[in-house]
Amino acid sequence: MNYAVIYSSRTGNTRLLAETVRESMAEGNCVYFGETSGIDDQVLREAQLVFVGFWTDKGSCDASAAEVLKKMDYKDVFLFGTAGFGGAPAYFDQILSRAEKNLPSTARIAGTYMCQGKMPVAVRERYMKMKEEGNASAQIDSMIENFDRAMSHPDQQDMEKLKETVHESLQKQSE
Ligand SMILES: Cc1cc2nc3c(=O)[nH]c(=O)nc-3n(C[C@H](O)[C@H](O)[C@H](O)COP(=O)(O)O)c2cc1C
Repeated sequence: MNYAVIYSSRTGNTRLLAETVRESMAEGNCVYFGETSGIDDQVLREAQLVFVGFWTDKGSCDASAAEVLKKMDYKDVFLFGTAGFGGAPAYFDQILSRAEKNLPSTARIAGTYMCQGKMPVAVRERYMKMKEEGNASAQIDSMIENFDRAMSHPDQQDMEKLKETVHESLQKQSE
């Protein structure tokens, strides 16, 4: 089956996932691998299975991934993404379901995957400044803890889990 891997990545986390998706698929059937900005209608015509990768912005997929998702008429879509906040699977589910709302009703979801992704150091500095300015709260401490946990992601384990999820999804599709 022809497939495409289309992703949006501001700081590189989601690109790492996209590369892992490509590595776990047969190269010969890849009609496109690259950023959301590079796709055209021809690419979309040729691919039956489309892997769409996003980074999380305001609790949903980023705007350019949303635009791609809207074009997925009659496609099998594997949706994957990274988010700064991790730890609670329900949070990832919420992001995914918001992202899925961009899909046309004729699209079929082949699989989904999300993991945490590191954030720019400026974010931590902002938290620290808030603390220094007297806004110390348990919430800021937990945001700093989350930031530090995110620093190592996506990691090797995230990539292995992604590969497994891709293979399981393909298996289900062929049944
Ligand atoms: C403007 C902006 C908004 C963000 N909003 C969220 C958010 O609502 N929830 C979240 O979990 N992470 C949020 N993040 C963190 C990113 O989604 C996360 O670091 C992601 O892994 C970045 O992916 P990329 O490296 O592929 O760009 C935001 C980051 C930026 C820069």
